[in-house]
Amino acid sequence: MKNTKIVIHGKKKLCGSVKISGAKNAALPQLAASLLTTSEVHFQSVPQVEDVKVMFHALKNLGAEGIFDADTVYIQVPELKSTEIPPEIGKTSRASILILGPLVARNGYAKVSRPGGCPIGDRKIDFHLQGLGQMGVTIQETPDYIIAKADNGLHAIDYTFPNKTVTGTENLLMAAALAQGKTILRNCALEPEVGDLIDLLTTMGSHIQGKNTETLTIAGQNRLNGARHTLIPDRIEMGTYVIAASLKGNNEIMIENAIPEYIDGLLSVLTQIGIEVAAWDGKITVRTRGPLCPVEIETLPYPGYPTDLQAQLTTLLTQAQGVSKIKENIFNNRFQHADELNKLGANIEVDRDIAIIRGKTPLNGRTIRATDLRASAALVLAGLIADGQTVVENAYQLLRGYENMPQKLRQLGADITLIDE
Ligand code: EPU
Repeated sequence: MKNTKIVIHGKKKLCGSVKISGAKNAALPQLAASLLTTSEVHFQSVPQVEDVKVMFHALKNLGAEGIFDADTVYIQVPELKSTEIPPEIGKTSRASILILGPLVARNGYAKVSRPGGCPIGDRKIDFHLQGLGQMGVTIQETPDYIIAKADNGLHAIDYTFPNKTVTGTENLLMAAALAQGKTILRNCALEPEVGDLIDLLTTMGSHIQGKNTETLTIAGQNRLNGARHTLIPDRIEMGTYVIAASLKGNNEIMIENAIPEYIDGLLSVLTQIGIEVAAWDGKITVRTRGPLCPVEIETLPYPGYPTDLQAQLTTLLTQAQGVSKIKENIFNNRFQHADELNKLGANIEVDRDIAIIRGKTPLNGRTIRATDLRASAALVLAGLIADGQTVVENAYQLLRGYENMPQKLRQLGADITLIDE
């Protein structure tokens, strides 16, 4: 197996501008939505990251024709050549679960591998299966597969998600788009990626009411059309660069292709920490003056503070003067970066769902290991401010979700190299 590493020599000033790519978590469900039509769907601003490549490959395996070139995807599924996502494709990301809804809605049968993705805790899918079950889908679960059958097609439901789920909302939205009748989904996730999927489905001919609210009403159609769609910018990538800029006093970064309101939760926390952030016209600038203040925050569904920016904020808070606390409410094993940051000299204590960060601690470079996608970003950020050389092993994790992050940071002045052995 390949050992992908990132080697960083820290303490370089970051300055200049960085352009945010299209959102990974918008690309994943929207590529899956191409199964809902036999016509071509054309996407722009698609990030070339490993998880999206896996989704594209999974769809090709099912019979999709198309190309993924630079940031553009043309995809069309005129007919299905397979109805199965095998574990070797499904286990690395959330692709297979996002394919389940649209595939069974189109074909009446789907056999998909249990989903993989980051090992950040129990990643349950019971609401996806419950909702599909109510739509008339018979679900059979095996250790490796979820097998879904709907001999008479799907019918509309009135379903309330017991808790907010992003991919659950997306899955049932896509299934409802081809179901018979008017579906009402309640307590839906409000993440911008859900809104972007609604925009795509609407362009494909769906009738959906309630965008950006918790209640969505979907009038099912017999068929959908092709579409052209540009993905929204990646708010987690945006937030990661905002935090990178905040790490050191003399950094001066401008972030372009940004939608600052998508990261209001982060920007208000940064203001409490003492960082000056200016946002206007698709751009964000960040300046750090004086000592950083500690904060107490908790992760919440959108528009609250995102779990996907929790690890990166932890790195920043190692540089705040005093005791900070972060409560992780979304996933039950998402503090794996804490041990690695402690190896660099941080003082982080994890007590179940709370991380207590005592700062300010100088960080010293050494070899550390990425456990998941956002943890890997947190470790790279730590390397940027550590003394000497930091090596982040298992850096494949970073490539799953950040487009060209080592290159983008190098352009800003970081001394960072990606090594693929
Ligand atoms: N949950 C259930 N039952 C379900 C579905 C979810 O109990 O049927 C629970 C989960 O166990 C978890 C919580 O609800 O505790 C939230 O999970 P959610 O379903 O919202 O997460 P997800 O859809 O699997 C997406 C993103 C994640 C992001 C979360 C939360 C995609 C492809 N993934 O995951 O992104 O952390 O929402 O915002 O959209 C990442 O990009 O690094 C990443 C992990």
